Amino acid sequence: VTTDAFDRWIAALDAPMVVVTTAAGGVRAGCMVGFHAQSSIEPRRLAVWLSKANHTYRVALHATHLAVHALTADDRDLAERFGGETGDALDKFAGLAWAPGPGGVPLLDALPHRTVVRRLTLLDDGGDHVLAVGEPVATGTGPPFRPLRLHDVADLRPGHEAGDADAGG
Ligand SMILES: Cc1cc2nc3c(=O)[nH]c(=O)nc-3n(C[C@H](O)[C@H](O)[C@H](O)COP(=O)(O)O)c2cc1C
Repeated sequence: VTTDAFDRWIAALDAPMVVVTTAAGGVRAGCMVGFHAQSSIEPRRLAVWLSKANHTYRVALHATHLAVHALTADDRDLAERFGGETGDALDKFAGLAWAPGPGGVPLLDALPHRTVVRRLTLLDDGGDHVLAVGEPVATGTGPPFRPLRLHDVADLRPGHEAGDADAGG
């Protein structure tokens, strides 16, 4: 299969975008994530894949909890902040209302559709993203919404490209 054909197939699925936040050792982190899915029914499990290049991944390695916030079609500004900037260079939470949730994970007031998971598993299969699977411990909802989807942010340049050689700095 060519990468182009695969990429077109993925683009056609048009995944909804989320913001994953976490905290450890007094450091807060968060990034936009397109790779996420429910991964078990009984018991309920939620999976996200974090890029090894990201500040969020490095904090998540030490964290007990992750918060997975749905982005709505009106949240392009937050997509740009969490997907286009890196916590290696700035505090993405500056000027945003948030409150600590389970395990100190930052919950963003502006994104009430969210699930907090307690991290159970980390799996590195050798790719540039690492799988984190968690047990849901809290779920919040808001009014019905239209998800922000991949095609809405396809023009966004990630704060860290997957495979960034300078990651960790
Ligand atoms: C459309 C799109 C989808 C993305 N999907 C993911 C993803 O699934 N997992 C991930 O770790 N990063 C993903 N990113 C990249 C991060 O959101 C981006 O590099 C971010 O700036 C990293 O911030 P950090 O270094 O503060 O963690 C995506 C970015 C874009 C634009």
